[in-house]
Parts: sequence; C-alpha cells; structure tokens
Amino acid sequence: MPDPLIFEILDLKKKHDATILAHYYQDGEIQELADFTGDSLKLARAATTVTSSTIVFCGVHFMAETAKILNPKKRVLLPDLEAGCSLADACPADKLARYQEMLRINGRTFQTVTYINSTAATKALSDWIVTSGNAEEVIARVPKDVEILFVPDRHLGAYLEEVTGRKMILWDGACMVHEIFSLKDLLAQKKKLPAAKTVAHPECPANILAHADYIGGTEAMIKYVGSFAEPTDFLVATEANMLWQLQSKHPRHRYHPVPGITCACNTCPHMARNTLEKLRDCLRDGKPEINWQPEFDRAKEVIERSLLEPVRKPVAGD
Ligand code: 13P
Ligand code: SF4
Repeated sequence: MPDPLIFEILDLKKKHDATILAHYYQDGEIQELADFTGDSLKLARAATTVTSSTIVFCGVHFMAETAKILNPKKRVLLPDLEAGCSLADACPADKLARYQEMLRINGRTFQTVTYINSTAATKALSDWIVTSGNAEEVIARVPKDVEILFVPDRHLGAYLEEVTGRKMILWDGACMVHEIFSLKDLLAQKKKLPAAKTVAHPECPANILAHADYIGGTEAMIKYVGSFAEPTDFLVATEANMLWQLQSKHPRHRYHPVPGITCACNTCPHMARNTLEKLRDCLRDGKPEINWQPEFDRAKEVIERSLLEPVRKPVAGD
C-alpha cells in the first residue's frame, strides 16, 4: 500500500507548481517520486530546464544553492536547510581567499578549480567549477602554463592529477562518507565474490581506488554497470542509497555495498536529513527557501562558464 504521504506530496506539488529534483544519494522513496534524479552535473543542468515556478531540491545545501544561482527568478526550496556537506565545510571562502593571496605574494601563477561541493562564496573565488562528471573536460580548459589550485577534495584532486597528468596544489578536504570505506572489508568481499566488479567514486581515497575495476561519479557508474549484459555482482564504494538507483535502472545485476569502517552501509548523514515528511512540509509551507546572496552574482558567471557552456576541445599547444 503506497504511503498516504506520497499522495499528499504529489497533490501539493501540483497545487504549488513545483518540480522535485533528487540526488542519487536520497532515500529510494524520495528518488521514486522525483521528477528528475541525477548526479550533481545532471541536476544542475536539469534545473535550467524546469518550467514550474518552484524547484524543490532533495539533496544538500550546495546543490540547492547552485539551482538557485542558475535560476534567479525561481523559488528554490530545500527540505532541510541544515543538509550540508563535509567538503563544503572544509573550504570556507575567507580561508581560501587568504591562501590564494599567499600564493600570489609568492609569485605563483595559478587558477582555482573548485569541486561543486562547495559554498557559493567559495565558488565566487574560483576560476572553474567541476563535478565528478565533467572534471577532466574542464581541467583541459585550464592553460598549461598556469598551476592548478584544486579545492576542496584532496582525494578527487589526487585522482584527477593522475588521470589528467596535471600537477595540482591540493586543498586538505575530504568527504566524510567516501573517506571511511573499509579496505579490509572490501578485500574480504572480493575474496568471497572473485568475479565481482568493484566500482568506486573518485571521492574515495587512493587505497580504495587502487582496487576498483571502474572509477567514476554516480552517473558514470550507472552507465558502466549498464554495459554488462549478463547478470554480474558489483561491489559499490559510494553512498549506499546509490544502490537503489542502480537496482532500479539495471535490476539484472546484484549490488553489494562496500562497508564503512564503522558501519555495514555507508550513508551520508546530510543527505539523510531530507525525509518525506520534510518534503511535504516544505511544499506546504513554501520554506525553507534559498534566498539570493550578494556572492551569487560572481558564482553564477563561473558556474555557467564551467557547467553550461559547450566544451571547447583542447588544441595542440594548449
Ligand atoms: P556526483 O553524484 O556528482 O558523483 O556527486 C557525489 C557526491 O558526493 C555528491 O555529494
Ligand atoms: Fe558531501 Fe560526502 Fe555527503 Fe556528498 S556524500 S554531500 S560529498 S558529505
């Protein structure tokens, strides 16, 4: 029997002319009733195509903020304003500004490449914004004769250094979820299921990535598992709600979450703040709302250039 709350949410959505966007790390029941699900890049782009007057963003604060920045005239709601992100917290704008100033004083010529998991104020200090889905393409747009300051994820940054061959100055931030996968448990799972393929998000540390058959963001993971025609076992090293999405898109496979050091199922406490009840309340009350802030103007330029402009292919000599 479907939860009556679901009907209430669908009625309120219609009544208030709202579109629901949900990240793949939301509970399956929220993903199921969303109009769009996606990774950070797909959702940011989807937000620009929404025709309703209200967007309800089921994800974390920086995602809803990005949707608002790309759609200044729309009302953007986030079911729980406290849904933050350990990566965004790791790189406050004032600290970044001081570090950039120190590099300039030391005569370094650099561009700041910032992971989308950051505040608008931090984005406003950046030259480029990347997501797990477009980082390599965007880094190819950074002139070869300047250094790259990559913030805030040191694991994603180290992975990108490896795949792009660009040396980077790495900020010391990490995702609290991806940082704690248990290598011991992963190796035990691999021993138990030797034919299984391991997929890992590039926010994982190098010791986990070293044992992955495939490294990619959440959207790329869906594509990868979809390329296997035969039923296959996958060990999944990313936030555990991703398994719901993989299961619903490609049900022929078997998915096994890689455990965290302290938990069998590694979930994001920030994403988990959004619940069906809070989604209902925010649609009903029209709050919490993301309001325009002065730093959004500068952040908008950087986000649009990085995420929405067609990518120029690098040419010889770049
Ligand atoms: P993607 O879904 O863009 O890969 O991002 C992962 C993530 O950690 C979002 O907070
Ligand atoms: Fe931030 Fe990690 Fe949670 Fe994503 S999973 S919102 S990166 S803390």
